[in-house]
Amino acid sequence: MAFYSEKVMDHFQNPRNVGEIADPDGVGEVGNPICGDMMTFYIKVKGNVLEDVKFKTFGCGAAIAVSSIVAEMAKGKTLDEAKSITNEMVAKELGGLPPNKMHCSNLGADALRKAIDSYLAKKEGK
Ligand code: FES
Repeated sequence: MAFYSEKVMDHFQNPRNVGEIADPDGVGEVGNPICGDMMTFYIKVKGNVLEDVKFKTFGCGAAIAVSSIVAEMAKGKTLDEAKSITNEMVAKELGGLPPNKMHCSNLGADALRKAIDSYLAKKEGK
């Protein structure tokens, strides 16, 4: 399939970090109302660093590849570094995405950011 980069195909066929974290420090769920795809990120935080990142994605191949690469990119990063991961960075890391699949890359970065925000809100007692 020339449509997708080799890296997208690899992360779609062998996604990394799939699953749930039993006792997560933060959870972020996003969905796209148009295509109906859903993505949930779970994080474990130690100090100021993402110790573990896992995801569950119900969606297209690009969404699964995006989830997998976002989890890889975020693991071991500080919360601020992980929050500054953009969809452009995600698409670039995957060797590009077709224009009609760029919205899939938004979901990954958004779900991760939501998970971090939920952790920060919990920490602040909100
Ligand atoms: Fe909607 Fe991929 S088609 S996330």
